[in-house]
Amino acid sequence: MFMLGFLCLLSDKSMIAQTWFLIVCFAFTTLFYQCSPKKETEVKSANENSSREATIHKLSIHHALPNDVKVPADNPRTPEKIELGRLLFYDPVLSGNKDVACATCHHPSNGYAEYRDLSIGVNGRGFGSSREFNKPNDIPFVKRNAQTILNSAFNGMDIYNDYDPENAPMFWDVRSKSLESQSLEPLLAMEEMRGKRFTKEEILAEVTRRLKNIPEYVSLFEEAFINEQEPINTENLAKAMAAFERTLITNNSRFDQYLKGDSEAISLSEKEGFKVFNEAGCGNCHNGAMFSDFKPHVLGVPTNPKLSTFDKGIGEEYGFRTASLRNLRFTAPYMHNGQFNTLKEVLEFYEDIAGGKEKHPEVKKDQYDPLINDLRLLVKDMGPILSFLNSLNDEDFDKKVPHRVPSGLPVGGNLK
Ligand code: HEC
Ligand code: HEC
Repeated sequence: MFMLGFLCLLSDKSMIAQTWFLIVCFAFTTLFYQCSPKKETEVKSANENSSREATIHKLSIHHALPNDVKVPADNPRTPEKIELGRLLFYDPVLSGNKDVACATCHHPSNGYAEYRDLSIGVNGRGFGSSREFNKPNDIPFVKRNAQTILNSAFNGMDIYNDYDPENAPMFWDVRSKSLESQSLEPLLAMEEMRGKRFTKEEILAEVTRRLKNIPEYVSLFEEAFINEQEPINTENLAKAMAAFERTLITNNSRFDQYLKGDSEAISLSEKEGFKVFNEAGCGNCHNGAMFSDFKPHVLGVPTNPKLSTFDKGIGEEYGFRTASLRNLRFTAPYMHNGQFNTLKEVLEFYEDIAGGKEKHPEVKKDQYDPLINDLRLLVKDMGPILSFLNSLNDEDFDKKVPHRVPSGLPVGGNLK
């Protein structure tokens, strides 16, 4: 038909022939598009059913965490840089009102996370669950739950233990790539560290100006960034903090020991739990050495009533990044909005949504992740899974808190 129209066009250039040609082409294209995708879907769904178990098996791959941490080419690790990063991490001089440090919300005594659903940054005092806003207050809560920094050096690791530190996804909505680019975000965020005295455009210049006026920082930056004309700048500030964060790793949990060959490192019930975990379909998303695929999935976690607006996550499409399941002992309360206090509550939630049973009123049926419909979780599976998750805790990490910071301000911010 196509050839026929084409020949008509060649032999007779009249309008009628041209129109005839276009009609034929249109009919042909429509026919083609109607047939072919139908065939494809049919094939796909047939395959999907028969290979579902194989898919689950393929995705549920787990390894021990490696011993070494990769660093970006332009930020080599040196002891001077790491120690400078540590001091900066604890120094509230980086915040607009000099009242909040990174350690305010990521303290080693809580596994570099925080035991509260939503963080309080600017204009707060106290530590963890007893932290409160000062009065009067016009600063909102930080809208998400503070993640642990432990092992964030491995963010983005795939099921082959491969990852790119220059492109490592950060935050619940993966909006930042690499520890370097992440580490300036809290300084810019009004409710986390910036406050209202400085604008987003002003704050980084203000912070570097302050650091340049502290002689101890001047020499520490010179030692960490040798042969640089102006070592105190925002890029080096970020590099030093990232270098410190890359030392905060736990790669020797009992589960790592087990995978490395010590068959006695985990108990029988933990082994059973690992099996149940993968059979239920948890390992489809919580896979690789970090127990996360670092991809967005829509689960429909209930809203935190403390928030005035509903958090729609990545691209406003209700998805959040799969959380790592390492060190859950420290990451409670759970989920992006800290909505569940215990792991039992998390599992009860999964039991509710497994197989597409219960839905969040805001989220449409077809928006849910298909892997959630594949989830098969029974109440009797919960005990073994809980005991397995426990084998992923590792408390052997750097807990050193400096006894003073170069600004002379309270170490870690207003924690009392
Ligand atoms: C007021 C509390 C607060 C302060 C202060 C704070 N953070 Fe965070 N941090 C959070 C919260 C909340 C999140 C999750 C935010 C999100 O996903 O939107 C987070 C996430 C992170 C992550 C991402 C971890 C991951 O796995 O993706 C890193 C890394 C991090 N913070 C480092 C820092 C550094 C470095 C500083 C200091 C410059 C800092 N934080 C200051 C609360 C805080
Ligand atoms: C479809 C992918 C997917 C499946 C399947 C899945 N999860 Fe998750 N998991 C996620 C995502 C995404 C989050 C973060 C959700 C959020 O905060 O909104 C999460 C969060 C969690 C958390 C909270 C961790 C923290 O520190 O806050 C735990 C615990 C957890 N999942 C355990 C499990 C278990 C156990 C199973 C199996 C019963 C399972 N997950 C199945 C994707 C999945």
